[in-house]
Amino acid sequence: MQVLDKEFELYITHEEILNKVKALAEELNKDYNGKCPIMVCILNGAFIFAADLVREVNFPVEIGFMKYSSYVGLDTVGTVDKVADLAQDVKGRDIIVVEDIIDTGYTMERILCDFKEKGAASVKVACLLQKPKKLITNIKVDYCALDIKNEFIVGYGLDYNGHGRNLKDIYILSPDDND
Ligand code: IMP
Ligand code: MG
Repeated sequence: MQVLDKEFELYITHEEILNKVKALAEELNKDYNGKCPIMVCILNGAFIFAADLVREVNFPVEIGFMKYSSYVGLDTVGTVDKVADLAQDVKGRDIIVVEDIIDTGYTMERILCDFKEKGAASVKVACLLQKPKKLITNIKVDYCALDIKNEFIVGYGLDYNGHGRNLKDIYILSPDDND
C-alpha cells in the first residue's frame, strides 16, 4: 500500500480493530455504569476510533472534540500545540480522553495538564494503540485496545502527512522504507 512516498504493509485488519474496540467498550461499560461522562475525541487521528467506540458504550454520554498537533512526517516533534479547545464546561464532570495512539506520551501529558486546570472530577485515558517501548513520559493509560511495535503506522484515522486516514485497516511502514 503506497501512501505518498512511502510503502506500507497490512498490519491490523479492520475486523480485529473492531473486536478490540468492542472489548475496550465493555471495560468502559463496567466502570461508567450510572455515570454520564464526556468522551473527548482528540482530533484529527481519533475521529474514527471515537465514532466506533461511542456506538459500543451503553451509558449516557456527551461527545466533545479537541485538537492538538505534534507530529510532522514520521517523528513526533516534542512541542505540542493546542489547536482547538473543547466547547463544553468540564467542571465536576467525568472525562474520558479518546486518543488514537500514545507514542512518547508528550501529547497526552499536555492534554491531562490542560484538564487539571479546568477542574474535571475525573480524567481517564482511552487509546486505540500504544507503542509501549517509546513512552518517555510518566502518564497513566487507563484503557488501551492494542499494543503495537515501535514502527510508524497509518490507517483507521492515523495519517502520514495528512494521508491514509481513510484506510479501513492499519498498515505498518515497510522495513525497506524505514530509513
Ligand atoms: P506522542 O505525543 O509522541 O505520544 O504522539 C502522539 C501523537 O502522534 C498521536 O496523537 C498521533 O497523532 C501521532 N502519532 C504517533 N505515532 C504515530 C504513528 O505511528 N502514525 C501516525 N501518527 C502517529
Ligand atoms: Mg493524534
